[in-house]
Amino acid sequence: MNLILPAKTTKYLLKGLFCLLFLGGYQVFGQKLNQTAPRQRVNLDKNWKFHLGNSADPAQDFNYGIANLFAKTKKTSQTPIDESFNDTGWKTVQLPHDWAVHLPITFSQNEDQLSHGYRPVGGLYPQNSIGWYRKKFLVPAKDSGQQFSLTFDGIYRDSKVWINGIYLGSNFSGYLGQSYDITDFLYFNKANTITVRVDATQFEGWFYEGAGINRHVWLNKTQNIHVDPQNYYAHAKVEKTSSLISLEVPVLNGGNKVKTGIRIISELRTRDGKVVARSHPAEIDTLPAKTVHQVKQQLEISHPKLWDLDHPYLYRIVTRVMVNGKLVDQYFIRFGVRDIHITADRGVLLNGKPVKIKGTNIHQDHAGVGTALPDALQYYRIQLLKAVGSNAIRTSHGAPAPEFLDACDSLGMLIVDEQRLLNSGLEYKGQFERLIKRDRNHPSIFLWSIGNEEGDIQKSSIGKRVAQDLLAVQNKLDPYRIATYAADLGNVYHGVNEVMAVRGFNYRVDYVHAYHKAHPEQAVLGTEMGSTVMTRGIYNTDSVRGYVIDQDSVYPWWAGTAEHWWQLCADEPWMMGGFVWTGFDYRGEPTPFKWPNVNSHFGMMDLCGFPKNVYYYYKSVWSDAPVLHIGQQWNRKGQEGKLVNVWVYGNAPEVELLLNGKSLGRKLMPKYGHLEWNVPYAAGILKAVGYLGQQKITDSIVTTGPATKIGIQSNVDHLNANGKDIAVINLTALDISGRAVPDANDRLLFSLAGDGRILGFGNGDPSDHDPETSVNNKGSRRLFNGHAQIILQAGNSASSLELKITLNGHTQLYRIPQID
Ligand code: GAL
Repeated sequence: MNLILPAKTTKYLLKGLFCLLFLGGYQVFGQKLNQTAPRQRVNLDKNWKFHLGNSADPAQDFNYGIANLFAKTKKTSQTPIDESFNDTGWKTVQLPHDWAVHLPITFSQNEDQLSHGYRPVGGLYPQNSIGWYRKKFLVPAKDSGQQFSLTFDGIYRDSKVWINGIYLGSNFSGYLGQSYDITDFLYFNKANTITVRVDATQFEGWFYEGAGINRHVWLNKTQNIHVDPQNYYAHAKVEKTSSLISLEVPVLNGGNKVKTGIRIISELRTRDGKVVARSHPAEIDTLPAKTVHQVKQQLEISHPKLWDLDHPYLYRIVTRVMVNGKLVDQYFIRFGVRDIHITADRGVLLNGKPVKIKGTNIHQDHAGVGTALPDALQYYRIQLLKAVGSNAIRTSHGAPAPEFLDACDSLGMLIVDEQRLLNSGLEYKGQFERLIKRDRNHPSIFLWSIGNEEGDIQKSSIGKRVAQDLLAVQNKLDPYRIATYAADLGNVYHGVNEVMAVRGFNYRVDYVHAYHKAHPEQAVLGTEMGSTVMTRGIYNTDSVRGYVIDQDSVYPWWAGTAEHWWQLCADEPWMMGGFVWTGFDYRGEPTPFKWPNVNSHFGMMDLCGFPKNVYYYYKSVWSDAPVLHIGQQWNRKGQEGKLVNVWVYGNAPEVELLLNGKSLGRKLMPKYGHLEWNVPYAAGILKAVGYLGQQKITDSIVTTGPATKIGIQSNVDHLNANGKDIAVINLTALDISGRAVPDANDRLLFSLAGDGRILGFGNGDPSDHDPETSVNNKGSRRLFNGHAQIILQAGNSASSLELKITLNGHTQLYRIPQID
């Protein structure tokens, strides 16, 4: 039977279908954005369907490998790539997503499993190593005729992407993202289906890397004539009282018709939108279909506000494209006007002033979430590092999330942006090109890194040639910056080091001076420094649990202490400074112990960001804040009279230690060092007094009772009800008098009520194998040496979230409002 409906009825039916699809979880393109804006970018993180496949059995891999998918376009039947595939039984997930962190920790003798924190992903676990993702979205018919692309900020790893059954391409990298033009394949007013197959069988690193779409996904819409963001390049030349910004603006005609009368104007705007510089208009008389025209423009500004570490001021560069007077594109970047020079004798000069690099290395990994860090958590972690007085991060060992770089631009953090591998073959040279093009407009980036510790080639002529090839790429795409290479070599010049402008030292600090003497023309940077192993709050080494004393004293053969490297480098103006290995603990690389230890202990903070004692060392030598810190705990029942080794950090020149009011002596603080006392234990108060001129600063540790309640502290006082925002809730065990109990390991039970979710939780214990995610917003975790952390994620309604925490039968409530 043919059913003919009157036009009006069809319209209403379509409208109904539209609403249904939207309410059913499909995102309608442009729903929340200004429909008239010429360029739109819509986040597609919500409502993905997810299912594990199988790398050893095609039948369990949804017929991948036996469906001859690539024989014909759209040949997809019997696979999840097919639009009609029924995924209702699949799990609904929100991005960023890391499926590995939800798998149970599993013992294996395999070295790669150990280095990845014993999560059962990789060649030994075919049933856990393939992830399939599907997502539907709608685009209204009125948008047809425009240009569309999908951007994946990052997938771990080896991903293949299809839209509506049509293969878009693949991305080998687990770090660098990829954009796909989908203009030709879209439906309008009908659901579009994205399918992604992720293959995490092979590792890229030797540390926990996660698995899945662990960064954002975006749907971009432009008109046919538009700016191509991937080739847009801005550079500011900073003079005494002015700055000249040079722009390379690629204008693309993605349509099928030749266009004439194109005019491009770029502007520099302040944060609040005031135009402070405008380029001369550039005209393109004729732009044939499917071609790009590269326009060069300039913006001149007098007395610019410079981007620096304390005032990271960001302008906006806005490029407007008009066709016959009609605005067709408006592309903007946030832009910092700053001047960075790296010199062999004075290190980094930021806007003419020397800046010692007080940096840390970090991996993308946090308690409770694995590699799937929400943006707000990136900010949280960078702020913790800033609070130590750190001013730089090396993105070891691969491309960071774009949002991480945005956060560094906003907060004032310098970045060494690192390529995953030292390799100039097609794949990796291509990755380096993409990395530079993606990131070169970020003011925070002050140096590229072409690789890390490539033992097999770094000393050879092959390494040198590879480096030269990569440096040529960098010089072409970003001639205003230079590059380093992180070499685990001492006084060795031959090979890669010969051609680097900045010699990177991973450890081997005792060779730094001799190297500098022999090669004074090269700048020297500590790309990995320190690397002591410390477990937060532990004062007795425990080889069974895999805990190392929380003191700057134990390190692997290749490494050294914090004090050692800082003392060698701090006062040498030619030494650019260095990056501590690491800012935070991360999963994998348990050192020096193995199973049951599953995380590294290199961090100055643990996996949750709780400080270890060495954090205060760095704070005392890196920041201007007065610091005094006793690195011990004073709950030592049964050890009365026994000598306890007490370390004190601080930047007061003189420190006195007092036990229960009685002085144990006053000592002079060695430069960039620490003080030690051996104190016969007696319960009570151990107090340090630092004499800073007229000022006195103090720190105390006390003997407490058992934990009876929880101190609850959130990093924010409200959540934005956008489904993405997070609150980091830090929990501290308190005794009956409200004193923090440093050795409490009691189990907590918690649950969340309201429109939001418990995203994950942790405690910084490198040997805890408990799950880190909740089931139906209920969870449980032990405290580890007095602390635990719960990460909450906002829902979408302006209502409160209520967190219930139970410790030893005692329940507390914590409420956090959500606002629109
Ligand atoms: C370095 C390496 C890092 C990490 C570190 C541990 O050799 O570059 O990724 O493994 O050692 O100390």
